[in-house]
Amino acid sequence: MNNGKQHKTVFMIFGGTGDLTYRKLLPAFYNLFSLFKMPQDFEILIIGRKEYTTESYIDIIRPWLKKFTRTNFRDEVFERMCDHMHYLVADFTKEEDYPRIKEVVDQWGGVQQRLYYLAVAPQFFAPIAFSLKKAGILDPVHSHQVMIEKPFGVDITSAQILHQQMCTAFDDESIYRIDHYLGKEMIQNIMSVRFNNTLFEGIWNHHQIDHIQISALETVGVENRGEYYDHTGALKDMVQNHLFQILSIVGMEKPHSNSAEAIQSQQVKVLDALIPIENGKLHDHLVLGQYTEGFIADTKTKGYLDEDNVRPNSPTETFVALKLYVDSPRLSGVPIYIRTGKRTQKRATEVAIQFKAPQGVLANLLIIKIYPDEGIYLRFNAKKPGTTQEVVPVFMDFCQSCVYENRINTPEAYERLIEAAFKKDKSLFTSWPQVLSSWRFIDHLIERIAAEQAEVYLYPAGQNGPIQAEELLNREHRHWIDEEHG
Ligand SMILES: NC(=O)c1ccc[n+]([C@@H]2O[C@H](COP(=O)([O-])OP(=O)(O)OC[C@H]3O[C@@H](n4cnc5c(N)ncnc54)[C@H](OP(=O)(O)O)[C@@H]3O)[C@@H](O)[C@H]2O)c1
Repeated sequence: MNNGKQHKTVFMIFGGTGDLTYRKLLPAFYNLFSLFKMPQDFEILIIGRKEYTTESYIDIIRPWLKKFTRTNFRDEVFERMCDHMHYLVADFTKEEDYPRIKEVVDQWGGVQQRLYYLAVAPQFFAPIAFSLKKAGILDPVHSHQVMIEKPFGVDITSAQILHQQMCTAFDDESIYRIDHYLGKEMIQNIMSVRFNNTLFEGIWNHHQIDHIQISALETVGVENRGEYYDHTGALKDMVQNHLFQILSIVGMEKPHSNSAEAIQSQQVKVLDALIPIENGKLHDHLVLGQYTEGFIADTKTKGYLDEDNVRPNSPTETFVALKLYVDSPRLSGVPIYIRTGKRTQKRATEVAIQFKAPQGVLANLLIIKIYPDEGIYLRFNAKKPGTTQEVVPVFMDFCQSCVYENRINTPEAYERLIEAAFKKDKSLFTSWPQVLSSWRFIDHLIERIAAEQAEVYLYPAGQNGPIQAEELLNREHRHWIDEEHG
């Protein structure tokens, strides 16, 4: 308890008995706490409908934290953190339960920074926001921020409806839309690498760049998300949000400051400048795929249609390859190839910038490795040692995550996002104009897919997408960069 005047940060988790809370949020809190990065005076209120007490909840989360914390798990640190944790049995769909939430947080007194983390399915976002407002929890005495996970709608119309609904309780400034990719170290580093090196920024333009590739490939299948995924697909699950975030950072102009507004306004300009795919031209720009049974590292894996909660004969794509252009002075005419897929042979999220090549030698290649390896690879040409004048490609490979100190000092995405939210720094969150702009593009693309009846090509698990994805680039004498690097 405080003296009623002290500033207190109150973090409320709705969905406190869910996978996201156990695997990501609570380990992130532990890491922040153990590194003395939590606000000085804080409480965490877990809201769940299961009949736990605070003590029994703490017993449940202990093994999860032991398994998932990045920093060393220490019992005494955990116990100290648990002094700030409270479990409240409440059903967030029942308005009559909210006065009890209010009672708990009001008793902590003082002027509070209240953060509401909605670790729940999106259909509950607006009802929870309404109920918080109706119960008077969102009073003007305290400051309020709500954190929500993607998806932000399933198309532009549903996103607009959700936004309007959320804005009846919270103003846009208080809505923190999480795209956990923005919390990844190397995605933030793309900006640093670009804007702090004339070596890179000086040649980051259509005069020097041949093309760009952005890949997010996973060896895993849909796991236990079959029902959600089957109604979503790779375009909406990955491209509309995560890959467009990366694309907008790769293509943006230098922001005039590090403020969230400055960064996000540059990002949105890139998304607004994406050139819609012309009618009848889909085949030149898009390949959709779906995995069948195959082998991942010698282990036989089932096909998408045999996964749990997937519709028989489902047409849902588990792989997308796209060729895009941005109408901007910087990248005009530079093809940007995007690819994402499940059950691929390769597991990597990375950006590759291939530069134009002088005649007779290999092009310079810059690869920014985002996940699981973090680092930067640069291929250039040099004379082969010896008496000949033969030129050969050589490379420099900076592996950030190979350095133990870097690894232990690199916060995980949720850790970074929670800390940023405490500090009211919105630069790591998705702005509303970004959501609108990316849905506008994806909705149009989905209309074209339906109109042109784009085929979903099959690929065996363990292959980097269907053969047609390779052909998309081969037609232009290019290929996906899957070479061994690092
Ligand atoms: N898991 C991840 O890594 C991850 C990553 C990114 C985004 N997300 C998104 O985050 C959201 C939550 O994901 P999740 O994986 O944590 O889902 P989950 O495991 O199904 O958890 C949902 C939580 O909501 C609670 N809940 C449902 N109805 C309730 C009610 N009426 N009253 C009180 N609690 C209720 C559940 O409580 P019970 O335990 O009582 O059922 C559970 O704690 C989803 O929208 C998901 O798409 C998840």
